Amino acid sequence: MAQKLAAGNWKMNGTEASLAEIDAMLAAYPDPGCGVLICPPATLLERMSRRIGRGKIATGAQDCHMNANGAHTGDISAEMIKDAGGAYAIVGHSERRTDHGETNEIVNAKAQAAIGAGLVAVVCLGETLEQRDAGETLDLVGSQLAGSIPDGATGENLVVAYEPVWAIGTGRIPTMEQIIEVHDFMRARLVERFGAEIGKSISLLYGGSVKPSNAAEIFAVENVDGALVGGASLKAADFGAIIDALQ
Ligand code: G3P
Repeated sequence: MAQKLAAGNWKMNGTEASLAEIDAMLAAYPDPGCGVLICPPATLLERMSRRIGRGKIATGAQDCHMNANGAHTGDISAEMIKDAGGAYAIVGHSERRTDHGETNEIVNAKAQAAIGAGLVAVVCLGETLEQRDAGETLDLVGSQLAGSIPDGATGENLVVAYEPVWAIGTGRIPTMEQIIEVHDFMRARLVERFGAEIGKSISLLYGGSVKPSNAAEIFAVENVDGALVGGASLKAADFGAIIDALQ
C-alpha cells in the first residue's frame, strides 16, 4: 500500500520570514495522518529542518547533483542534503528539465544519487500541452518513467509525481478522467517493471494547480496517493487545507 503524501515545492521562494509558515504548520499538524513534506529552497533547508526538529514534517531539496562531491560550482549533492536534515530530493521537475536541459538519463543519475545517499527521490514527469494535443501523453509518460527511474527503486526510496507542464502554475487542471488514465498507466508500468508488491507501494502524486478547492476531488482518484504542490504550499492555511483533504 502506497504512503499518502502531501508534498510542498516552494521553488525559488522563501526567506527567513517564511519559516513562520512552518511554525503554523507544526502547531496545526503535530501528528498528521499522512506524510507531509516541504522542499524549500536550498538556502532554507537546514534552517527549516532544525526548526522542525523531531516534528513529523519531513524536509527535502528541489534538486541534487548526480555526484557525491567535487568540482561542480553552485551544485549541491544528495549527501549535503542529508547533512542539512533533508530526507527527500525532487529530481526531474519540468522546470529543471526545461531551464537546465535535464534529460531522462540525467534525472535517472540524480535519482540514483539521492537513493544512494539514503534520500527518497521524488521523480517528476509530465507532458506539455503540445504533446497532449498530439495524443502523445502516455508514450511520453511511459518513456519518462522508463528512463528516469533507476533500477532498485522501491516504495521506500521512490515517489513519482505526474505534473502536466500545462497545469503548473496555470490554475488549469486535467479532467479527472485524464488524471485517472495517466495514474492507472503509471501504476501498471511500475507493477510490470518492479512486480506487484513494489509497484503498488510506490506513491504516485499529482501536481499542477492543486488548491484547497480541488484537492479532495483529485485525492478521490484511486491511484493518486497525494500531491506535489507549488504555489498553494507557501501558506500554512492553504497547504493545511490540502493536508486535511488527504488525511
Ligand atoms: O512541483 C509543484 C508544481 O510544479 C506545481 O506547481 O504552483 O501549479 O501547484 P503549482
